[in-house]
Amino acid sequence: MGNITFTMIKPLAVKKGYTGKIIEKITEGGFRIQAMKMIRMSKADAEKFYEIHKERPFYGELTDFMSSGPIVAAVLEKDNAVEDYRKLIGATNPEDAAEGTIRKLYATDIQANAVHGSDSNENAEKEASFFFAKKERFSKDGSLI
Ligand code: CMP
Repeated sequence: MGNITFTMIKPLAVKKGYTGKIIEKITEGGFRIQAMKMIRMSKADAEKFYEIHKERPFYGELTDFMSSGPIVAAVLEKDNAVEDYRKLIGATNPEDAAEGTIRKLYATDIQANAVHGSDSNENAEKEASFFFAKKERFSKDGSLI
């Protein structure tokens, strides 16, 4: 069981002012923040981050969107983090997301779906290290991870 997941609050949710409310849902959901920053990805950054979707028809639009404005990136810690966070955010398409989930509350559509969440422990580690150096991740007592 992995104990971290990686998330991004996507550009439209940041632009609409939902950052604080989304962070509150995350911490109320029992996740501890190991690392967090606001950053704007270049188109090349977004292409690299979403490389696994390279062959998908929405790759171009997705990477344009993800580089269209600042995002808030974070590493979140909790037992069973990947699975529990996917429950908290809800289905990829907000039309299918359960009531009370972050996507149901704050997503606009399948692309601007408010937040990203890692889909496996392996990807959580990869995605966390895409955005954060070791000296930017902290354990509960304030020491470096
Ligand atoms: P995310 O969790 O960031 O991972 C990949 C993203 O691709 C996903 O959220 C959606 O925003 C986007 N995505 C997945 N399927 C589609 C689709 N059919 N059309 C447009 N965007 C999609």
